Amino acid sequence: MITLGAIQLGVMAACVVLLVPMGMAGWHLSRNKMLFFSGALFITLAVGVHLTPYFPSISDFASSFVVFDFHRHSCLSLLHEVVWEDPPPPDPINSSSSSSSSDGPWRWSSSRNVVSCDFRRLSPPDTSDLLNGSWVVVAGDSQARYVALALLQLVLGQDSDRIPSVKSDLFKRHSDYQIVLDPIGFKLDFVWAPYVSNLTHLLHGFQRNRTYPDVLVMGSGLWHMLHFTNASDYTLHLHSLRNSVVSLLPISPELGTEGPVTGSVSVRSPHLFWIGMPTLINSMLNTEEKREKMTDTMRVAYEEALRRSKVLRQSGGPLLLLDMESLTWNCGVKCTEDGMHYDGAVYEAAVHIMLNALLIESDQTL
Ligand SMILES: *[C@@H]1O[C@H](CO)[C@@H](O)[C@H](O)[C@H]1NC(C)=O
Ligand SMILES: *[C@@H]1O[C@H](CO)[C@@H](O)[C@H](O)[C@H]1NC(C)=O
Ligand SMILES: *[C@@H]1O[C@H](CO)[C@@H](O)[C@H](O)[C@H]1NC(C)=O
Ligand SMILES: *[C@@H]1O[C@H](CO)[C@@H](O)[C@H](O)[C@H]1NC(C)=O
Ligand SMILES: *[C@@H]1O[C@H](CO)[C@@H](O)[C@H](O)[C@H]1NC(C)=O
Repeated sequence: MITLGAIQLGVMAACVVLLVPMGMAGWHLSRNKMLFFSGALFITLAVGVHLTPYFPSISDFASSFVVFDFHRHSCLSLLHEVVWEDPPPPDPINSSSSSSSSDGPWRWSSSRNVVSCDFRRLSPPDTSDLLNGSWVVVAGDSQARYVALALLQLVLGQDSDRIPSVKSDLFKRHSDYQIVLDPIGFKLDFVWAPYVSNLTHLLHGFQRNRTYPDVLVMGSGLWHMLHFTNASDYTLHLHSLRNSVVSLLPISPELGTEGPVTGSVSVRSPHLFWIGMPTLINSMLNTEEKREKMTDTMRVAYEEALRRSKVLRQSGGPLLLLDMESLTWNCGVKCTEDGMHYDGAVYEAAVHIMLNALLIESDQTL
């Protein structure tokens, strides 16, 4: 029989309350989170300790930790609760007074649940800290290119003179792109991968080289929809992508607590994201062929294919969805000119969602 006395439990609780946040302190970005966790841990453990005499089994004690997991998971699922604000009226007389608009036209919802998750827009220095020493690979179609641009704009924030040239290099048609920022040891690769099969190929390349990025952001579907227009074929490709991700990447779901806590997101297994398809506004698509093939019905079928293929976490897979459909839908018609590519702010929001997911996930690895 395992019956831990209240005293042992108390000592253990004290250790956890002290040590877990101290571990987190190794990573200064999450100081506020640390305080939150420390407080939440304390309360839960205190409750746990007081209930122990009545339920003297270790499993009840363990189950109190489910609370944190629940909080984390619910925060991951709230990340897309973004609201778009109407642009503030232009103020030609005193432009310096509209400084609040530099935050961009979106913010996280102020519902209580969302507020309790303490999502934040990362500043360029915070982003550099978070990604210090990391290798990020963004692979996919033009949506992925926009996500890569939004991320680079954030990382290069202090060095914004470079953005125009970065942008023109990154947007060379159908080509790959690489940038290395030595001061923070940050490397970003954009890999042009219009089809899912190209993504699978890329994963095999990682395996051959035995090098894996710290963060891998992928997404493709629009090209397949336009050139094959066959959702069941898309499903097949997604299936083999999923199998490759699961079998090729060093994913270890239960990361050990030993091992150094590094100052960046570089942990043993890559953080994986999927860039969902945007809302397509059929009447605005810029060619006859697109308007004919990329219909709402086809889009729904592709969406369903993605769900069925179990690529995404929501359906038991390894990748966390950056839900471009909901972001673009909420931003609406005013945010797009061709019914397919959206304003930079939409991709910027996606990047902040991704970075906040990284923050949440990295706490989890402690
Ligand atoms: C513009 O706004 C700034 C700060 O908001 C204020 O100090 C300044 O007097 C304003 N100028 C004009 C012309 O209104
Ligand atoms: C990045 O991390 C290294 C050590 O890992 C540190 O020396 C350097 O100052 C960091 N750079 C920034 C910009 O935080
Ligand atoms: C992507 O895959 C398609 C079909 O498998 C292939 O024809 C094309 O060359 C690939 N493109 C790249 C950039 O690898
Ligand atoms: C694998 O390594 C080769 C040679 O260094 C490089 O050209 C290639 O891009 C690498 N592939 C991947 C997927 O990292
Ligand atoms: C769609 O793709 C599936 C699987 O590749 C194939 O069996 C089927 O014939 C294709 N349908 C059409 C209409 O091309």
